[in-house]
Amino acid sequence: MLSKKQAKVFFLGGTLLFSLIFLGLSYESITASIPKKTNADQISDAVIRGKHIWDSNNCMGCHTLLGEGAYYAPELTKVYERKGETYIKTVLMSEKPWAPRGRQMVAYGLSEEDANDVVEFFKWVNEMDLNGFPPKPSEALQP
Ligand code: HEC
Repeated sequence: MLSKKQAKVFFLGGTLLFSLIFLGLSYESITASIPKKTNADQISDAVIRGKHIWDSNNCMGCHTLLGEGAYYAPELTKVYERKGETYIKTVLMSEKPWAPRGRQMVAYGLSEEDANDVVEFFKWVNEMDLNGFPPKPSEALQP
């Protein structure tokens, strides 16, 4: 049995030790791991403009990116790899609601310049090291 004093030292010492470990790991994540895994050094002006277009047009109202957003339309984290630049630009520049599979996308009719910026943004997201996210669908479910 610990005495009251020993229990206090044990509690405070443990709290201090694990708080320091927590802060150390958080610092390492913020300053080293996250910038490395997200290739933060490759965030160009085009990527930033593309992200702004993504945010200001409520793309997340229908799509998910990195798992966040709505589930009406396809997940787009790896869309650059899955569909390629030309397909993405065709979707974004379309003057009619894009809907080959039935559900409709807003017809944004983006300019080629804006579409290129969004493609750059998707390309940057595609290159992130996400520890295998999103998981690949099982073979049986692939079209
Ligand atoms: C009203 C809902 C809605 C909004 C808002 C929306 N989309 Fe879509 N989007 C869709 C749907 C639905 C599809 C799939 C259409 C199909 O294939 O039939 C789609 C398809 C796509 C695709 C092709 C993905 C694939 O796997 O086929 C891309 C890229 C895309 N959208 C990007 C965007 C971007 C960028 C924005 C914002 C500027 C946006 N979407 C806003 C509904 C939406």
